[in-house]
Amino acid sequence: MNQRPLNVSRAQTGLQGTTRVPGDKSISHRSLMFAALAAGQTRVSGLLEGEDVLRTADAMRALGATITRDGDNWVIDGRGVGALSEPEDVLDMGNSGTAARLLSGILATQPFLSVMTGDASLRSRPMRRVTAPLSETGAVFETREGGRLPMAVRGTRDAKPLHYRLPVASAQVKSAVLLAGLNAHGETTVEEPVATRDHTENMLRHFGVNVDVEVMSDGGRRIALTGPAELTARDVVVPGDPSSAAFPIVAALLVPGSDILITGVGLNPLRTGLFQTLQEMGGDLSILNERIEGGEAVGDIRVKHSALHGVEVPSDRAPSMIDEYPVLAVACAFAEGASRLLGLEELRVKESDRLAATVALLNVNGAATTVEGDNLVVHGGGGSLGGGHVVTHMDHRLAMSAVVFGLAAEKAVSIDDTAFIETSFPGFVALMNALGAGIR
Ligand code: S3P
Repeated sequence: MNQRPLNVSRAQTGLQGTTRVPGDKSISHRSLMFAALAAGQTRVSGLLEGEDVLRTADAMRALGATITRDGDNWVIDGRGVGALSEPEDVLDMGNSGTAARLLSGILATQPFLSVMTGDASLRSRPMRRVTAPLSETGAVFETREGGRLPMAVRGTRDAKPLHYRLPVASAQVKSAVLLAGLNAHGETTVEEPVATRDHTENMLRHFGVNVDVEVMSDGGRRIALTGPAELTARDVVVPGDPSSAAFPIVAALLVPGSDILITGVGLNPLRTGLFQTLQEMGGDLSILNERIEGGEAVGDIRVKHSALHGVEVPSDRAPSMIDEYPVLAVACAFAEGASRLLGLEELRVKESDRLAATVALLNVNGAATTVEGDNLVVHGGGGSLGGGHVVTHMDHRLAMSAVVFGLAAEKAVSIDDTAFIETSFPGFVALMNALGAGIR
């Protein structure tokens, strides 16, 4: 990707108007993968047409599914759970950890060889968290040093079902194990000590698979399904991505005079930790017109400029807002008083080391932070902010967080590269400008 540097100056007027953010990334990946595993034809509306999801579409095509675009819909002719075919070439998952990890679960039980790679960011991310449990099916994974991509997978015809307790709160690992279970013989179970996003469970049910979810006495969950399972094609409606909505929402809270409405945002309760946190900070954020669309909770979010104060975010909230910490940290930098964000260990293994990169974003722009183990303290209200150069490390959410910082700061913020925004939020700068951000 060609590098795209950007300078962002303070917004001259409040953000105003009504908008819609692109489709949910998690749900979009799953819709393409699960439709490819289903018998029959699936139509998906609202699919995120970002780079990450397009990589998943290419991979599922390479594995034998037919995927085309028909007007605003995507149409997938599936192959059935055990009926994918050996790809002729390396599967390139680009920047997407979700694509690579979920696909690993599918490939573990396909009796052929696949090779998977990704860009420099993805090639630095840990895959052992999926290859360790998935190897127990009988599949063989060969990775580079440190469990990194590129990786070869020799799938097994005769997969053993897994019983796995997640050592880290990860929906990707949970999903990989469940996807392997679809084509194993017998019951697969996953236990998660803290509930993580449940789009895999919801969508598998939507495609007709029996997925059992039991809430355990410690508040965690035990998820079970029995293979071999059959998926039946069903149309999918993808809601707007709450993780994308986070950026215009925080910008509107911070830029004086703002009043915006974002329609059709996914409100799955395992994704809404940021909205709760912003309300706790004094943010004027209201959820209107709550409804169910395509099996997921959806609503419209109205946000007005607000004076924010510091907050403490408990670590058990982290899975419900794991992708939102960089932009929350930006909000905290402009809030009055200190904010304590607890239990951020998983941020170190995202598209970048997001803990280090977020700290650098804030510090270079004059906001003070303290890192205490896995906790981040942001010291808000510290006078004139901005004027720094942000290094984004191929991380879309870092780039968008830096844009939001620049819109609110006294001095302009320069950003080394905004090209990776295309992975999750195509048209981000244009959408912000339509609201009046004035980014040139
Ligand atoms: C995702 C799960 C999360 C999240 C990622 C999408 C998913 O990752 O950060 O953007 O779609 O399952 P982890 O499972 O690594 O926490």
